Order: sequence, then C-alpha cells, then structure tokens
Amino acid sequence: MIEPIFKYFEEIDSTNLEAKREGEAGAPEFTVISAGTQTAGRGRSGHTWISPKKISVATSMLLYPDGIPMEHLPRLTIIAGVAVAEAVEELYPLKTQIKWPNDVLIDSKKICGILTEMEAENGHAKQVVCGIGVNVHQKKEDFAPEIRDMATSLDLEMSGQQASRKAITEAIWQHFLKHYEVFRTNGGSLEGILDSYNSRLANNNKRVRVVHQIHDFEGIALEMDPNGRLLIKKDDGTITAVDSGEVHVRGLYGYA
Ligand code: BTN
Repeated sequence: MIEPIFKYFEEIDSTNLEAKREGEAGAPEFTVISAGTQTAGRGRSGHTWISPKKISVATSMLLYPDGIPMEHLPRLTIIAGVAVAEAVEELYPLKTQIKWPNDVLIDSKKICGILTEMEAENGHAKQVVCGIGVNVHQKKEDFAPEIRDMATSLDLEMSGQQASRKAITEAIWQHFLKHYEVFRTNGGSLEGILDSYNSRLANNNKRVRVVHQIHDFEGIALEMDPNGRLLIKKDDGTITAVDSGEVHVRGLYGYA
C-alpha cells in the first residue's frame, strides 16, 4: 500500500499550485498538500474556487503517472470522485451519489469540486496534480445565493454531528491510492472502479439531455464504461457512448 506524505499550510494561494511547485522542485510522488484556506483556489474552466478558513477541505496530490497513456489521465478526476464518495460513506452515516462524470452528491446536492491539472513535455505527462475541495462545515448561508440550492456540506447533511477535515482528507487519499494502483496496473482503464462508480450513478435509468456542440439528443442514461464514457439508450433503442470531453448531460427531471 502506498503511503502518502502529508503537508499542511494554514494559508496558501492554491494547493494545486503548491503541489505543482513542489513537483518541479523534485518532491516525491504522492505528496499531499492541504490548506486551511486558499487565496487563489482554482476551479474548472478558469473559475476561482473559494475555500473559506477552516470550514472546507482543500487538498491536492502530486503524481508521476508513468506508464499511463496521457489521454487517459483526465480519468483521475473520476477516480477522485469515487474516492470522495467512498471516504464520506466510510466515515459518516451518509449516502452519496455521483452525477456523471464526477460530481459527488449528497441528497442531490454537490459536496465537492475536483480539478486535475497536468504538466506535459514532448507528449508525455511529467507530473499530474489532482486537487479536491470538499464542503465540510459550511452553513447554508455560507454558500453564494446562486449555488445555495445545488451545494451542501457534510455538517449540513448530518444535522448535529461535526465532520473532521483531517479524517476526510486522509480517507479520501487512502481510497484514491487503492484505486490508483489498479488504474496504473490496468494501463489507464477504469475497470477497477466500475462497480463502486455505477452503484452510485445518480443518472442511472434517468432521462437526460446530452448537450453537444453540434446536436443535442435525449435518452436514458445507463452506466459508465471502462473508458469513462456514459452509455445512453437513445429513443430508437440504440446505445451510444458519450465522452465528457465533448458533451455534458442534463437531467430532465431534477439535477441528475
Ligand atoms: C470545480 O470547479 O468544480 C473544481 C474545483 C477544485 C477545487 C480544489 S480545492 C483544492 C485544489 N486546489 C485548487 O486550487 N483547486 C482544487
């Protein structure tokens, strides 16, 4: 079993950036950078990610994923989603779901954000940083009004019990590394997480709209395949696999 090396900062610009800097300075693989607060937290599509002081988890792991084809590395985000779901359920009396590809939900609301960033050189990934932000102690009013109905925190879902930022951080990386080893052995296939992932798939058997640059279509979401694609049963009965790099899916009756 791989043992991560944990480093904690009270305040940092971004745990992803710090992991990247440490990687460039030669830090060992599986170094984990966590912070009490981030002053320049990074979100997907260039958005900023707010990590208020000591009420959430901001944590990033440095990886040197030799032997995994570069095009499969974005799948680490899906592995991280499964790791968050498993860690939450291991520690707390909560039930998680995953909205494809990697939104971890409790009671249909988002509990975390995941951002995987890669440094490539000559078509080869030199280092990868997988960063996870988990909502832990937030109260309803701590979320911006526009996301209040779509986001939740571990404490909010447990009404009374307080989650531990340290315990959830350690459990997430323990579950992540268990899956990462299998993923690496399998050359970047998601085969090893399929049961855990698909048993939590919020979209399962739901009618969805697949939003595509050229044409949208509707169908019933079935399951994720080992390539991270969502299988959709179209209205004509055929089954098609959609890739998260090209489409996103929107539930027709609710968030998932
Ligand atoms: C998203 O936009 O949903 C992804 C957000 C990812 C936020 C995490 S917090 C820890 C790590 N450090 C960052 O700067 N971003 C990620």
